[in-house]
Amino acid sequence: MGTTDISILAIESSCDETSASILVNGKVLNNIVATQSVHEKYGGVVPELASRAHQENLIPVVHEALSTAGISKKGLSAVAVTRGPGLMGSLLVGVSFAKAFAKSLDIPLIDVNHMQAHVLAHFISEPRPKFPFICLTVSGGHTQLVLVKDHLTMEVIGETQDDAVGEAFDKTAKLLGLPYPGGPLLDRHAKEGNPKAFSFPLTRMPGLNYSFSGIKTAVLYFLRDRLAENPNFIAENLADLCASIQYTLVEMLLIKLKVAMKEYGITEVAIAGGVSANSGLRTTLSALSQRKGWTLYVPEFEYCTDNAGMIAMAAHYKYLRGEFVGYDIAPLAKMKF
Ligand code: KG4
Ligand code: ZN
Repeated sequence: MGTTDISILAIESSCDETSASILVNGKVLNNIVATQSVHEKYGGVVPELASRAHQENLIPVVHEALSTAGISKKGLSAVAVTRGPGLMGSLLVGVSFAKAFAKSLDIPLIDVNHMQAHVLAHFISEPRPKFPFICLTVSGGHTQLVLVKDHLTMEVIGETQDDAVGEAFDKTAKLLGLPYPGGPLLDRHAKEGNPKAFSFPLTRMPGLNYSFSGIKTAVLYFLRDRLAENPNFIAENLADLCASIQYTLVEMLLIKLKVAMKEYGITEVAIAGGVSANSGLRTTLSALSQRKGWTLYVPEFEYCTDNAGMIAMAAHYKYLRGEFVGYDIAPLAKMKF
C-alpha cells in the first residue's frame, strides 16, 4: 500500500452479525462476517446474548479483515463504525472498540448510519444506481422507502409504523411451525404453492407508510379457525399458505413503492436489506420494473444482509468529505439520517 492510499477499517455490530471490512481507495477488499447461531433456539435475537457474542467475535473478525487484506493497523487511515440504529448493547461493543482503536492509532473515527449504509451497499460494485433513486430497504428490523439524492443526502419518505416486513415473514412463518428465522424457509415453500389460494387483508396506511402487524393476527385467526375443522390443515396446505402470505407482503411493499416512484417522478429503483433476497419480491419487482420502464438494482446477497462492507462504503464517502467524529461519541439506538 502506498502512503497516499485511503485505507479504512469498518465495523458492524448493530444486531446479530459481527462484521469487519477493509476498504482501500473506495474498493471493498473483504467482508468478514461472524453469524450468531445462539439465537436460533429462542426464535429471535436475544439482546444480551448478542452483546456477549459480539464481544467474543469482534477481535477475531477485525484480525481476519486486516490479515486477508494484507494491511497492518499502522497502515489504516481511519476507523469506521455503525453508530445506530440498532440494539444498544450490540452497538456499544462495536463503538467502544472503534473509539479505542482509532484513538490508539491517532487516526480519524467515522460514524455510520446503518440504514444509510444498507442503501450504499449498491455502490460496492457495478452497476451503480444513478441519482436520484428510490431504495426500498427491507430487513428484520426496518422497512423504509428512501429517496436518495446523492451518496450522503437521503430522505425517508415512508416507513413502517409497527413491525418490519422481515418480522412479518418470520412471525407468520413461526405460526406455520417453521423455525427461526422463517423468512427464507417461507420463501422456499412459497415456490411450490399458489399465491392466490388464500387471501389475507392488505393493510393500507396513509401516505407512503407501512403497517405489517395486522397480517400476523389475520394469519393467526385464519389458522385457528381452519385447524379447528382440520388438525392437518397446515401440513396439507403449507406451500399454498406460504405463497399466499408472501404474495400479500410483497403486494403491500410494491403498492407504496409504485406511488412513491410516480409521486417523485423517478425511474431508478433499488432494493436493500435481508428481505431483498426474497424470490417473490425479486420476481414481481423485476416484472413491474420492465412494465414501468424502471431500472432495478439488486445488490449481491452478501451485501443485502448486515455486513461491514456497506459500512466501509458509507465511510468512504464521509472520509472524502472530512466528516469525522470525536473519540467520545455514544451509540444511538434510534438514529435518524
Ligand atoms: O438485513 P437482515 O439480515 O438483518 C436485519 O434485520 O437487519 O434481514 C434479516 C431478515 C429476517 O427477517 C429474515 O427472515 C429475512 O430478512 N429474510 C427473508 C429472506 N431472506 C432473509 N425474508 C423473506 N424471504 C427471504 N428469502
Ligand atoms: Zn440491517
